[in-house]
Amino acid sequence: MKAIEIRKKYLDYFKRHGHAVIPSAPLIPENDPSVLFTTAGMQPLVPYLLGEKHPEGKRLTDYQKCVRTNDIDEVGDNRHLTYFEMLGNWSLGDYFKDESIAMSFEFLTKELGIPVEKLSVTCFAGDEDCPRDEVAANAWKKAGIPEDHIYYYGKDDNWWIAGEEGPCGPDTEMFYDTGKPACGPDCQPSCDCGKYVEIWNNVFMEYFKDEKGYRKLEQKNVDTGLGLERMTMLLQGKETPFDTELFSPVMDKLKDLQKVDAIESRRIIAEHLRSSMMIIADGGRPSNLDRGYVLRRLIRRMIRHMNKLQIDLNSLKELIDIYVENLGEMYPELVKNKEIIEQVIVEEKDKFVKTLAKGEKEFEKAIGKLEGTKIIPGQVVFRLYDTYGFPPEVTKELAEENGYEIDMNEFNELFKKHQEKSRAGSEQKFKGGLAETTEETIKYHTATHLLNAAIKRVIGKDAHQRGSNITVDRMRFDFNCDHKLTDDEKKQIEDLVNEWIKEGLPVTKEEMKKEDAIKSGAECMFIEKYPDIVTVYTIGDVSKELCGGPHVKNTNELGRFKIKKEESSSSGVRRIKAVLIDE
Ligand code: ALA
Repeated sequence: MKAIEIRKKYLDYFKRHGHAVIPSAPLIPENDPSVLFTTAGMQPLVPYLLGEKHPEGKRLTDYQKCVRTNDIDEVGDNRHLTYFEMLGNWSLGDYFKDESIAMSFEFLTKELGIPVEKLSVTCFAGDEDCPRDEVAANAWKKAGIPEDHIYYYGKDDNWWIAGEEGPCGPDTEMFYDTGKPACGPDCQPSCDCGKYVEIWNNVFMEYFKDEKGYRKLEQKNVDTGLGLERMTMLLQGKETPFDTELFSPVMDKLKDLQKVDAIESRRIIAEHLRSSMMIIADGGRPSNLDRGYVLRRLIRRMIRHMNKLQIDLNSLKELIDIYVENLGEMYPELVKNKEIIEQVIVEEKDKFVKTLAKGEKEFEKAIGKLEGTKIIPGQVVFRLYDTYGFPPEVTKELAEENGYEIDMNEFNELFKKHQEKSRAGSEQKFKGGLAETTEETIKYHTATHLLNAAIKRVIGKDAHQRGSNITVDRMRFDFNCDHKLTDDEKKQIEDLVNEWIKEGLPVTKEEMKKEDAIKSGAECMFIEKYPDIVTVYTIGDVSKELCGGPHVKNTNELGRFKIKKEESSSSGVRRIKAVLIDE
């Protein structure tokens, strides 16, 4: 069965069982600065898992595009991927363990035709926070899983949470027995010898974790995730996802093009190219910061491996074409954005090629100077990054190929300091409206400060800005707040801003030391990311904010302020869209 058929079967099955099919959210979360990429199907659904009503109802299903970046340097082995597709179904306070397990069992055995004896499942063993999950285990027995194929594990294996805080709960995982011999008498699903492969995870999300510990959510949810690449590989009896149609046309082409043979390098090229294309199609662009830097690392590591196999870098276009042709039906965004994908990748390749050879020479020089140690200092790794654009993975691989290691801890420290500096710079630019500075955007910029101040008065002084976006015809403002604004609150905010506009308050600018700005009570999003001397804008006596500007001279230039929409942005974060109307 092809991947696209598995996806269709999944969505059809859950649709038949009362689930609304919703679209995949973009890989780049719209306004969630806490994560770089969407990493699970539940991520865009957090507000609904916490109790907000979803417009499509209580049963949802989708395929979600995901990128996980923890293991970039593991890609090249037979299983790690950075981009993958997660099939998922959700109950938002509707069905719970019994029905969820019955559906998973039926889907696996009837729809996909997996023999029952190939399946093993794991359930939560219980601890002081949550009891042993006998309910899940009984549901599996009832469905037809024999007792000796049911295992219990603790939080490390059978508890799921995205990060440190948020909705979470015990989970039950389904494993597929590949038929490989057991690695020993203790071989179990938790063992990573390769006999058992995890195929699906059903999380019973009825808890919320924060720094105080666990508490019960108001509703009991189910959140599931099934990795499409892995399932495709297993159903096709393939050893790795690279042997399935998702990658094989590119893998085969690479074999034709290569002058040196190395399977790991072919996998790295095929994987990083696919991930890069998906990220670019969803709006990502290479840079030295955060998301952009992940994309840059993927493309640059791919380029080095193309060089390693002595593949002409001009064949990139051909490889992109092959993916667009083969994956275009699954991901129409690849077809739609083909030109920009090609342009971004080729430009990034050109940039890297300029410094790659020089950087390699520099690397050789650096190892020549090492005396009596096989560890390359973080300083050297950082210089290669900073001057020659070498991502640390690339230097690490070069080092390993030459029998050396790198001091990653030292590199990470230097890198963190450097990122903080550049982030402060880009915040300044962003706040100054770098994207587009017109008369209109300047007005919206000042209106943003007024809105920020009004929200503090109406909602409370702990409501802080979480994000902002301005175009010539509207402003968008995100702030933390634990509830949907009432009509009355919206009106109060709107009225306050309009009052301040009418009062004709002067907008003044001054430069001061960061500490003095903080002491004076100036508002700002990321204090640690600003340089030592900052610009502070003050509006009458209603607002004081660290900001790069520019702003109008007087609030009477703004026109009438109107809130168009108030909605959830992510968990605990509300979003206001507003306009300024010429009077
Ligand atoms: N959110 C769960 C996971 O990612 C389903 O495994």
